[in-house]
Amino acid sequence: EQTPPTYDPRHPSPEHPRRGEAGSRRLTTAQGLRVDDTDRSLTAGPRGPVLLEDHHLREKITHFDHERIPERVVHARGYGARGTFRAYGNAASVTKAAFLATADEETEVFVRFSTVLGSRGSADTVRDVRGFATKFFTREGVFDLVGNNMPVFFVQDAIKFPDIIHAGKPHPHREIPQAQTAHDTFWDFVSQHTESAHMVMWAMSDRAIPRSYRTMEGFGVHTFRLEAADGTTSLVKLHWKPLLGTHSQVWEEAQITQGADPDFHRRDLAEAIDSGAFPQWELGLQVMPDTPDETFEGIDLLDPTNIVPEELCPVQRVGLLTLHQNPDNYFAETEQVAFHVGHLVPGIHVTNDPLMQGRLFSYLDTQLSRLGGPNFAQLPVNRPRAEVDSNLRDGMHQTEVHTGVAVYKPNAVEDDEPTASPEDGFVTLPTPVSGEKGRHHPVSFRDHFTQARLFWVSMSPVEQAHIVEAYTFELGKCFSQEIRTRELSVLARIDTDLAARVAAGLGVPVPPPLEKEGVTGPEEAEPSPALSQLPT
Ligand code: HEM
Repeated sequence: EQTPPTYDPRHPSPEHPRRGEAGSRRLTTAQGLRVDDTDRSLTAGPRGPVLLEDHHLREKITHFDHERIPERVVHARGYGARGTFRAYGNAASVTKAAFLATADEETEVFVRFSTVLGSRGSADTVRDVRGFATKFFTREGVFDLVGNNMPVFFVQDAIKFPDIIHAGKPHPHREIPQAQTAHDTFWDFVSQHTESAHMVMWAMSDRAIPRSYRTMEGFGVHTFRLEAADGTTSLVKLHWKPLLGTHSQVWEEAQITQGADPDFHRRDLAEAIDSGAFPQWELGLQVMPDTPDETFEGIDLLDPTNIVPEELCPVQRVGLLTLHQNPDNYFAETEQVAFHVGHLVPGIHVTNDPLMQGRLFSYLDTQLSRLGGPNFAQLPVNRPRAEVDSNLRDGMHQTEVHTGVAVYKPNAVEDDEPTASPEDGFVTLPTPVSGEKGRHHPVSFRDHFTQARLFWVSMSPVEQAHIVEAYTFELGKCFSQEIRTRELSVLARIDTDLAARVAAGLGVPVPPPLEKEGVTGPEEAEPSPALSQLPT
């Protein structure tokens, strides 16, 4: 059953006020002056030079010259759609966020899917992580769920994010994507930063070559702290479950698709929506007790390289997302949308996951330059549907005409000033914080291999074969024997069968398992009894 479109035409519409009957539209300048001729420049005589006084010519070319903005530093290639989210209401026991807790409440959303490493014009079906970012325009303000199609991440601390991205992006001297040339920098990084072992397994699996955006799972990755109306809190992981199921391409298919139709995923999504086959996902929650050590069954919930297996904590479905409308304008919407992990609403809080904490800084910072100043929340695609009454003023691209003289609080000048109140405002949870300043490496963040192994042993034989082929292909592109051998020793630390099969594919001997000080694996880590009892 499909939900009918509910996009609200009260919101900024692309309709031009002068748009009327066919044939009634007139070409104008930006100032509204009707244009007499847009094909011939003003010249001094039929063979003379072009005159500087031709304002239409200069405006037309100048505007064109400035049509591009910087692409995103990561996730540059993306595709968006509008939709609605309908809450089932059963999340009320864990969160007071109105858009989740109120049964049948419908919230407008904008979703952007993306690849991570390729540039804006790159192909869709590459081996990569996919972004799955959702903007909920709730009545309490905007909530962004800025997730990926994989539940873990390469690094545990945001301070390493520039490094992993630099190692994975096209090499700076040639700007040729690593898939076609040398892979040394990526494998050099991940074989030394072994916390990435689990995420690399996902990246070498079929999950990295999805069949369609419509058949991808999504994950918030980090653990969030949810707060119910009665004040109780829980630690929660968020999931998107596609109603069409999770499907991937096989590698050869993905490569052929890249050549035949680099826009394969965008076309698929746009055509599905146009034809009324609206893609749907259920939002799911894994709800865990909010304990002082922030662990569950021995799993550190602040470590973003960990999942919580669904066998240990089932995913409870709390609402339905339906994408039912393609954007009217790619640039205005998909390119200018600005997601931020820090866009929260009452009932949803961040945790001290160091990756999440760094993200809280990064998104606003990058958008200040990408979107040209601090006023991008006023752009139609970002504008909250909740009432905005802030004391933020001026700045580049200000489009509001604010009135009044007192832009501070409290003031005795204005009769009616906006007030801040803990009654209905967002109140940060009073979670205790203490400790010595330092660049710490907690013991619970040092097991780099147990969950990588868990992933491998949970795969079917066909999926395992695909993973072996992916490692073999990708490592086969490494020029450096040292890097290749180091990564094989990482694989040997994860699983001897995996390492043996990849080494055989490369025609090299299996090195001994990687020895690394301060890092543990399934052999020596304090085994989580719950994890070791999982079915394989
Ligand atoms: C963009 C997800 C980690 C910095 C994005 C986007 C997604 C995403 C989905 C695309 C948003 C869009 O469609 O516009 C994630 C996930 C992460 C992660 C799931 C880890 C769990 C990080 C970290 C940093 C970072 C650690 C930096 C310290 C950025 C930046 C952008 C971005 C700068 C571009 C934003 C823009 O230009 O609007 N990320 N990311 N990300 N991410 Fe992340």
